[in-house]
Amino acid sequence: MTAELEGRVAFITGAAHGQGRAIALALARAGADIVAFDVAAKIAYPAYSQGSPAELGSLLTEVEALGRRAVLAVGDVRDAAAVQSAVDDAVEQLGGIDILVNNAGIVAYAALEDMTEAEWDAMLDINLKGPFLVARAVVPQLKRRGGGVIVNNSSVMGLRGGNRLSHYVASKHGLTGLTKAWAIELAPQGIRVVSIHPTGVNTPMNDGLAELEGATAIEIAERSAGNLLPGVPWIEPEDVAELVLYLVSDRARFATGAQFTLDAGLLTR
Ligand SMILES: NC(=O)c1ccc[n+]([C@@H]2O[C@H](COP(=O)([O-])OP(=O)(O)OC[C@H]3O[C@@H](n4cnc5c(N)ncnc54)[C@H](O)[C@@H]3O)[C@@H](O)[C@H]2O)c1
Repeated sequence: MTAELEGRVAFITGAAHGQGRAIALALARAGADIVAFDVAAKIAYPAYSQGSPAELGSLLTEVEALGRRAVLAVGDVRDAAAVQSAVDDAVEQLGGIDILVNNAGIVAYAALEDMTEAEWDAMLDINLKGPFLVARAVVPQLKRRGGGVIVNNSSVMGLRGGNRLSHYVASKHGLTGLTKAWAIELAPQGIRVVSIHPTGVNTPMNDGLAELEGATAIEIAERSAGNLLPGVPWIEPEDVAELVLYLVSDRARFATGAQFTLDAGLLTR
């Protein structure tokens, strides 16, 4: 039996660790070749650790062990030239792009009155402008293939408010808006655009946020998550990857412009 995503190429941002890595592996397991784009270095804001070159290297090994090809691209989603160069490399080495997962993102707490302009700008530039820069570079490639899928990783915070998270919440609501606008604009070209909205996920971001707050990850989860399902402080990156796998597959062929929550019931409370 042919693998579901055989012959397709997926461009995934923030692929070194966390959800992006789990998504890359799930899509590779389903037959896709992978372009893993990641800053793979510490950035000025926020203070917690991002992905690393070693993690990108081990992702390459794991994708190849699945019998799929991977192209690694180190760059910042805020850097239009680095994004374009990764897209060019992907096309040269893998022939094109069929799937884009705008996943790279950051989080940090800040009360409105204490928030610096630099913090606001970094949050919006990475979480909202980044997906725009990446999609702008990738969409011509999707069109060249006659269609494709874009999945934007928003958050439950792209559908509700959050305490001391206004810049994060604004960026994630913005991504929800981009999803709807791009879905309208790109439907005639056979490109579907959807957003996903996970509750807290067990990733280095979760740990990083806890570290910044001087709390444990479980304390942060208890403070903010409010998941409906008992005994579920967070979900796993593989749960998110399973949803993305469905959404990029032809099984989801009529899903576009829509918001998919994976929140253990949080938004129902
Ligand atoms: N962890 C959660 O609780 C949670 C919940 C809902 C939504 N999200 C969203 O899911 C996405 C992935 O989150 P995660 O939990 O895997 O985070 P993470 O911090 O564990 O991983 C993020 C990855 O993105 C990369 N990255 C960060 N900034 C980048 C930049 N400027 N350019 C390129 N790469 C960059 C990092 O190096 C890292 O590999 C984010 O957009 C996040 O906002 C996270």
